Amino acid sequence: MGNMNMSELYGLYLEDLKNIQDDLTRKVNRIREEVREEIGMDPVEHCLSRIKDEESMRDKCRRKNLPETAESALFQIRDALGFRIVCAFVDDVYTIRDHIVQLEGYEVLEEKDYIRHAKPNGYRSYHMILRARERFFVEVQLRTISMDTWASLEHHMRYKKEISNEQLIMQELKRCADELASTDISMQTIRDMILKK
Ligand code: GTP
Ligand code: MG
Repeated sequence: MGNMNMSELYGLYLEDLKNIQDDLTRKVNRIREEVREEIGMDPVEHCLSRIKDEESMRDKCRRKNLPETAESALFQIRDALGFRIVCAFVDDVYTIRDHIVQLEGYEVLEEKDYIRHAKPNGYRSYHMILRARERFFVEVQLRTISMDTWASLEHHMRYKKEISNEQLIMQELKRCADELASTDISMQTIRDMILKK
């Protein structure tokens, strides 16, 4: 019967994930405060975090040919706990990144800059894998509102099979991604002018 603190897949580790989630949420909020005092503006539009639900984690284990165990879910797969931090401006993404690198209790294991090096499909975001409490992983995705909008749309398309004109749609999605990126740069320039950087 339902012990709320247990999960069939994550077991007692679910408590660790929740604790890390709460801790990192507090720390991200503190970073927001700090930066807001520096630049007079909240650098973050919104910050979401989630513990991957059991069903999608089991799917992912299967896709990766891993047994459906807590060991795979937590220590082979690295996004059981995920944060998505959405900023209005590109500079803010890098500002937050610079603060995260310095966080006590978290070690940066890996960074992928899909903003400077967009994926071939047009996907942009800054990804970090953090180590928490010696052995847990946290995936952090940092992106602008435009990047977030694009990623959601592309995500929907990805799961919609039986699409005709797939080639054309991919091409158009890529074009949108590039246009959004160019708009992000213009918006950043406008903000710099307002802040008289
Ligand atoms: P997994 O995909 O988790 O096995 O890890 P990976 O090593 O491929 O990591 P990567 O940094 O490429 O992607 C991690 C996450 O970023 C994904 O689970 C998605 O949430 C997001 N992501 C990466 N590429 C895309 C993309 O092309 N489109 C969208 N919508 N999201 C993406
Ligand atoms: Mg991937």
